[in-house]
Amino acid sequence: MPAILTLKQVSKTYATGFKALDGVDLEIRRGEIFALLGPNGAGKTTLIGIVCGLVNPSGGSVSVAGYDIRRDYRAARSLIGLVPQELTTDSFELVRNAVAYSRGLFGKPADPAHIEKVLRSLSLWDKRDSKIITLSGGMKRRLLIAKALAHEPQLLFLDEPTAGVDVELRRDMWALVRSLRETGVTVILTTHYIEEAEEMADRVGVISKGRLILVEDKAELMRKLGTKHLRLQLKQPLARLPQELEGLGLALSADGREIGYSYGSNGSGGGAAGGVGDLLAALTRAGVAIEDLQTTESSLEEIFVGLVHETRSAQA
Ligand SMILES: Nc1ncnc2c1ncn2[C@@H]1O[C@H](COP(=O)(O)OP(=O)(O)OP(=O)(O)O)[C@@H](O)[C@H]1O
Ligand SMILES: [Mg+2]
Repeated sequence: MPAILTLKQVSKTYATGFKALDGVDLEIRRGEIFALLGPNGAGKTTLIGIVCGLVNPSGGSVSVAGYDIRRDYRAARSLIGLVPQELTTDSFELVRNAVAYSRGLFGKPADPAHIEKVLRSLSLWDKRDSKIITLSGGMKRRLLIAKALAHEPQLLFLDEPTAGVDVELRRDMWALVRSLRETGVTVILTTHYIEEAEEMADRVGVISKGRLILVEDKAELMRKLGTKHLRLQLKQPLARLPQELEGLGLALSADGREIGYSYGSNGSGGGAAGGVGDLLAALTRAGVAIEDLQTTESSLEEIFVGLVHETRSAQA
């Protein structure tokens, strides 16, 4: 199936001379949920702005369902819904009219039944005749989503959809995004909440300093980069590791009471090729008695921080 969104070597240098994007290549599959992660200023909103025609790229090409965003701008843009990062809805307009108006902007015929469906799915139907200024922050955010869905887009951008949103609403939002996918909508979201990506995304992209440094299936990413850490408390403190345990990648704590060991979450890695079982056997053979043990697993958050930190130090 052809990609719904293709970016080739997309770059952006702002008028200030600042290079916000640097040769970004990306293909988004139809029907997936893609999470774009990156620290503040990494270029996420710039990338979205380019695809939506709000920011002029300095180089490269972008197409949406085969439509080039410059040559076939209207066709491309009509397939896209955008929920911007900034709340921009302070007005005296009524909720229902604002959503209907957004649909009209794309030249779609009025469809009150669709508007009702969208408002109901966002729990805004009760507020349909309220003025926007009377809505709470969370409701305004949902209204922005309703507006973005008014013209039945195939590709929805959510730029930090849950920033400043309470826990319950965040969960509602996740459920909504999943239900959108079931209707065939492709979703690209940016977020600082790794938990959000972990929870929702099929694939994850990491952007740092304008470069897309990684694109991976979420499950694969966690399998490849996720590590487990094993900590063993010893019955008797050791002055140093027994010689036969050297080269296994073990770390003895300064007080000699604890041994630490990191290994891949698929059971391999570290120094002991056979994994934890072999390691424990080797310890027993060496006469090291174990009092207690714990394992911890690195989360997507730790993976992400590690990646961004790596590129930062590589570029420094
Ligand atoms: N209009 C502009 N003129 C000059 N520089 C800009 C402009 N817009 C953005 N930038 C710069 O480009 C870089 C990327 O900004 P962008 O908004 O794309 O980041 P982001 O990844 O969305 O960050 P955040 O997580 O804070 O939303 C930043 O350094 C920003 O200061
Ligand atoms: Mg942003």
